Amino acid sequence: MKEKLMKEFEKIFGSTDGVRTYFAPGRVNMIGEHTDYNGGHVFPCALTIGTYLLAKKREDTKLRFYSMNFPDAGLMESSLEDLVWKKQAGWTNYPKGVMWAFREKGYQVDCGFDILLFGNIPNGSGLSSSASVELATGVMLRDMFGHQGLTMIDLSLIGQFAENNFNGVNCGIMDQFAIAMGKKDEAIFLDTSDLSYQYAPLKLQGARIVIACSNKKRGLGDSKYNERRAECEEALRELQTKLSINSLGELTEEEFEANKDLIADPVRRRRAKHAVYENQRTVEAVKALQQGDIAAFGQLMNASHVSLRDDYEVTGIELDTLAEEAWKCEGVIGSRMTGAGFGGCTVSIVETDKIDAFIDRVGTAYKEKIGYGADFYVVDIGDGARCLD
Ligand code: GLA
Repeated sequence: MKEKLMKEFEKIFGSTDGVRTYFAPGRVNMIGEHTDYNGGHVFPCALTIGTYLLAKKREDTKLRFYSMNFPDAGLMESSLEDLVWKKQAGWTNYPKGVMWAFREKGYQVDCGFDILLFGNIPNGSGLSSSASVELATGVMLRDMFGHQGLTMIDLSLIGQFAENNFNGVNCGIMDQFAIAMGKKDEAIFLDTSDLSYQYAPLKLQGARIVIACSNKKRGLGDSKYNERRAECEEALRELQTKLSINSLGELTEEEFEANKDLIADPVRRRRAKHAVYENQRTVEAVKALQQGDIAAFGQLMNASHVSLRDDYEVTGIELDTLAEEAWKCEGVIGSRMTGAGFGGCTVSIVETDKIDAFIDRVGTAYKEKIGYGADFYVVDIGDGARCLD
């Protein structure tokens, strides 16, 4: 792979002297959705697919970008004097955002780069291709400028800062954290209220993780995402008129039920209910996994989808079809939407010898109902962002 990318770099930019190669994975969240900006728990893992980034320092402050995924876009040029978000800058807004964030946080970035990118995460699939580009850039900048004091957690926070303040998506910390801190064969049980975390081996006992990509692009998703976040914040404010809590993640289901009437609007009440219950489900799911009860883990995944469908309303017919068809299949331990929703992917745990039949059945039903096909990926859990040299 590295060799192929080097050849491409040479073709696009001329010489490969001083080029370094970095990789950042995509991520899949097993359970704990829309809890990370509510002070709750999440349980994501990094994948072995992701983004390769090759970079070479320049003598001037120019930035030249080329993505092998968008060859028609050609060479995209910018400079360190022009670190502002622009629609026409497309995917380059992600590396530029991280360069901007480094500077905002007081870490110098004082020369330009030639950058080549290649990603094997399906774009807009909800497997965090954008956070993957952010972390590949972060690791590259740390390495190139010797900012060795920055930890991987610092880099994840810088990535989130760029996403929030440069790209205008009010995301939580889950994606960047999982991509920075990923570990082969382990998921990360992260408490987003204080960033304490624990690795937990995903022992799937003769089953594997299958991702089904709906091929429905997120589109309006980003504005809907910010809307959900605002609804939760408003619900929290209403609860705070009586309760001394800092986030919805601090509530048990019982505490929520006893106080939910403080939330005036029934829609907002459902949003908050999801945040509270999903957080508790995540804690329970990790407990079940640690006790070797994979069936219970799967049931909680299914319940998570139902809550995202009925209370949080971020699924849509595409993701519902994928999950609901999966639940009908033999050998499916659990299935749910993963990521922000509004399109993107589902994640399922499927017994290894039933995977072919699963893909066939869900794929056929999906095409019949939705009119176009879904794509399926049997994935492995990999390590976090790193330099490959
Ligand atoms: C997106 C965001 C994350 C998280 C999920 C939903 O992936 O980037 O921070 O909120 O949606 O769980």
